[in-house]
Amino acid sequence: MSLETTTTTAQPLLSVEAVSKHFNDGALSVKVLSEISFQVQPKQRLAIVGASGSGKSTLLQIMGGLDDVSSGRVLFEGDDFASLSEKKAAKLRNRSLGFVYQFHHLLPEFSAIENICMPLLMSGYSCRQAKVRAADILQRVALTKRGKHKPNELSGGERQRVAIARAMVMRPQVLLADEPTGNLDRKSAAQIAILMDELQQECGTAIVLVTHDVELAKTMDQVITLSDGKIIG
Ligand SMILES: Nc1ncnc2c1ncn2[C@@H]1O[C@H](COP(=O)(O)OP(=O)(O)OP(=O)(O)O)[C@@H](O)[C@H]1O
Ligand SMILES: [Mg+2]
Repeated sequence: MSLETTTTTAQPLLSVEAVSKHFNDGALSVKVLSEISFQVQPKQRLAIVGASGSGKSTLLQIMGGLDDVSSGRVLFEGDDFASLSEKKAAKLRNRSLGFVYQFHHLLPEFSAIENICMPLLMSGYSCRQAKVRAADILQRVALTKRGKHKPNELSGGERQRVAIARAMVMRPQVLLADEPTGNLDRKSAAQIAILMDELQQECGTAIVLVTHDVELAKTMDQVITLSDGKIIG
């Protein structure tokens, strides 16, 4: 894929501009990200790799507007997250961003299909419409027969597939996925990677993937390596 063409013609989907982040714990201040800058183009597939504790999850949370920056800014299609009202930011997260969290984050008391329905219901779909659309994507992740099961009745790989279905059901512009293949065996991890690729192609979604899996990272358009909160490659 020619990134150059995309870079020159399209507005970036996400611009991370000189982002730094520190956490304050009493008198202690821990610097986790330091002057991070890069962009995500529409439909781009980007991997973020780095050792444990290097700041990958923190960066992804910030890119999704789920955490504040200490300095710098994150723009979504030119709009600074920090300048959006809470209502607008929530709408943007619901419509345009899909999240797969490092620890699956499904609602434990709801079934797979109900979990997938959540973003649809939040955006105003009727219950009936939401169920039709959720059933459709559940089929895409090959879990039709498990729709009524709660997360604790599913395997790790199945939960991750439900999490991906929930993240993709709104056909977001960007999917932010934190270790979606972590804790899975090679075969399940490969299935998840193929599934994300298929959905990405169908929906034209950009993917930002945090992973420890070097082989998986190599299949992406671009790889960013973090070390101690800095981009080193
Ligand atoms: N809320 C918080 N308060 C204080 N420190 C935090 C907080 N969240 C993260 N950290 C620290 O920030 C650093 C980066 O954490 P982060 O979770 O972003 O790393 P990571 O690269 O995702 O690691 P892993 O590969 O293990 O998931 C760690 O040292 C962590 O302890
Ligand atoms: Mg992490």
